[in-house]
Amino acid sequence: MKKIFFGISLFLAPFLLSAQQKTNEHPLYKNKNASIQDRITDLLKRMTIEEKAGQLNQLNGGSFTGPAGNDAGQKAKMQMVRDGKVGSFLNVIGAAETKAVQKIAVEESRLGIPILFAFDVIHGYKTIFPIPLAEACSWDLPQIEKNAAVAAKEAAAAGLHWTFAPMCDISNDPRWGRVMEGAGEDPYYGSVVAAARVKGLQGNLNDDTHILSTVKHYAAYGAVEAGREYNNVDVSRFSLWNKYLPPYKAAVDAGAATVMNAFNVFEGVPASGNKYLVTDVLLNKWKFKGFVVSDWSSFSEMIQHGYAKDGEDAALKAISAGSMMDMESKVVIENLPALILEGKISIQQVDDAVKRILYYKFKLGLFDNPYKFSDEQREAVTELSKENKAEARKAAAGSIVLLKNDNQVLPINPSAKKIALVGRYAKSKEDMFDFWIGYWTGKPSVDDAVTIYDGLKNKYGNAIEYSEGYNADATTNDELIKAAVQSASNADIVLVNIGISGKMAGEDRALAFPEISEGQVELLKALQKTGKPLVALVSSGRPLVLTKIQPLVSSIVQCWILGIETGNAVADVLSGDVNPTAKTVMSFPYAIGQIPVYYNHFNTSRPLPTDKEGNWFSRYRDIPNAPLYPFGFGLSYTNYKYDNLRISNTSIQKTDKLIVKVNVTNTGKIDGEEVVQLYIRDITASLIRPVKELKSFQKIKLKAGEMKELSFLLSAKDLSFYDANGDLHLEPGAFKVFVGGDSEHLLEKDFTVQ
Ligand code: BGC
Repeated sequence: MKKIFFGISLFLAPFLLSAQQKTNEHPLYKNKNASIQDRITDLLKRMTIEEKAGQLNQLNGGSFTGPAGNDAGQKAKMQMVRDGKVGSFLNVIGAAETKAVQKIAVEESRLGIPILFAFDVIHGYKTIFPIPLAEACSWDLPQIEKNAAVAAKEAAAAGLHWTFAPMCDISNDPRWGRVMEGAGEDPYYGSVVAAARVKGLQGNLNDDTHILSTVKHYAAYGAVEAGREYNNVDVSRFSLWNKYLPPYKAAVDAGAATVMNAFNVFEGVPASGNKYLVTDVLLNKWKFKGFVVSDWSSFSEMIQHGYAKDGEDAALKAISAGSMMDMESKVVIENLPALILEGKISIQQVDDAVKRILYYKFKLGLFDNPYKFSDEQREAVTELSKENKAEARKAAAGSIVLLKNDNQVLPINPSAKKIALVGRYAKSKEDMFDFWIGYWTGKPSVDDAVTIYDGLKNKYGNAIEYSEGYNADATTNDELIKAAVQSASNADIVLVNIGISGKMAGEDRALAFPEISEGQVELLKALQKTGKPLVALVSSGRPLVLTKIQPLVSSIVQCWILGIETGNAVADVLSGDVNPTAKTVMSFPYAIGQIPVYYNHFNTSRPLPTDKEGNWFSRYRDIPNAPLYPFGFGLSYTNYKYDNLRISNTSIQKTDKLIVKVNVTNTGKIDGEEVVQLYIRDITASLIRPVKELKSFQKIKLKAGEMKELSFLLSAKDLSFYDANGDLHLEPGAFKVFVGGDSEHLLEKDFTVQ
């Protein structure tokens, strides 16, 4: 088949080229003053089918200018650029490197189409912010948007045009290493966070400080069975629409330029070749105007799935389903021209995909100034600037969740003269970071990181006495325990940094035991015997099972993985300079066997009564049904009282809005900020509804002793749900509305919709 194709294309090529040579002198597509649409139409007319396939080809780049650039593989890639066979690179980073590669594309290829440079800027480029899961616990949308904007600004100055973020996968499974990249378990909250991230990354895409975003992994990758990476997914259209799709849709509605296929299957068909997901839903129903990119090799991996028989079949199935750019599997560049010539794929479909990609190249201004983003001077002053680090510190402090604080052990009493800090991770820059800081580029900003040890030293100087407590693999021994106990015995308070190394967060980091290691539990038991106030600082990229350590310590501070300013942010919270405000967006399981555990579950036919008495209910016999810490939970150094919940009407029409009011009082002695959460429950419907669904929230500042009356407005859309076709319905009947400080402790009122 390939032979026939080469024959035809050799025959056509001279004809195509001579047609173009006539118009080549002042081509319209190079005219700044023409409209983008006209420029695209003009350019498309000039492109050969190989060049069109080239626009749909994204390759892994790496360095081309250093010694690696002389490598035969790298040289071959550069030749492909000259031949117009590469539309985009991922992993070519830095102003100088991107400029060098762009020069070849623009000056040495026939049409001079610029390259789009992409990179996984997941939580900061050089100034690393908290992991997305942690950041989401802040419930601070303006800050989340700002964090994304800082990341975009740094990346843009380094020649990048495009990031593969935000990840919008809803997940209930802390075994999955990638929960760190999302916004937790709630579809509504996931949606507002996704939109904020898209806005922060993209702005209006009309300057040189914003970049294209990617909604990933479309769709339902968060449902991977047993939390194992690259595993299968089996969800119904009912769950797809109600649980998994809302955040992707919100990101698309916020203007995300690209959507990435997931690795998983949906209804037995890999996402990359899934016509229902890509064409029917994304392109037709949602009217997505951007372009679709595969995940790494996900086109060719349809062969391993057993859905495509070879590369050609994979390209045919991916492109026919509506997917567009092929990341690294090369099946499109190798097979698409022949598939077009054989009439298996229509040129109109390919043109549509190419137009979408070219649109963003024009929109970013790359045809007029291909080096606009690759600015070494701007790169030097932007990366790791003081302002960026200040934002990262604020964001990190705002992401820390206080899970337990008996006897108000925290904030650390200012009279404390000696503070024991135990824990190997507290001093290890290597363990502070996850996979997504660009380790593979060889240039991540680990050296600039402030460890917990550094941060506490900055705040408390010589009051800090450090001991390791456990080994790199989180095991311990008598000697390490003895040294820690000795240090603790002389201290006023003991801080123990435990958890799981950051290296175990991210892609390909599934864990069967998301819990505190035996060694760390043993260490805590020994430290508890000193009788000193014990504070666990838990570092992890996911909620861990904390049930064993909870009774051993007075306080638990969930530090997640907080980025470059970790230590300063932790010190800000421990000292009380920052009163914690974050609330977890993923439930903390009581036991591994309880996974998946999440607040917005259905009621079952046999819900456990509140008094938990009796038999034959949906329950565990050895543990509670409830998680250790529920969605929306997080303490502060002050307390809040909720009362006087009232609603504008107990019976409303479908077109009415319900006004919900509540009084919230800061009953403590210090100022604080509270995340006030509103949930609903649709009691009976034609499709069952969760026992609670978050529908709104407000993060409010309350001075000590202050009371505020808050008002929420619920509309028909807030009370609706999707059917299996993706249509929204509001059905009449009984509802409940709840307001409170977490998903378990809530005031409630009943109302009906007529
Ligand atoms: C991941 C994506 C990522 C891509 C490019 C894949 O393995 O699943 O999330 O964007 O690699 O690095």
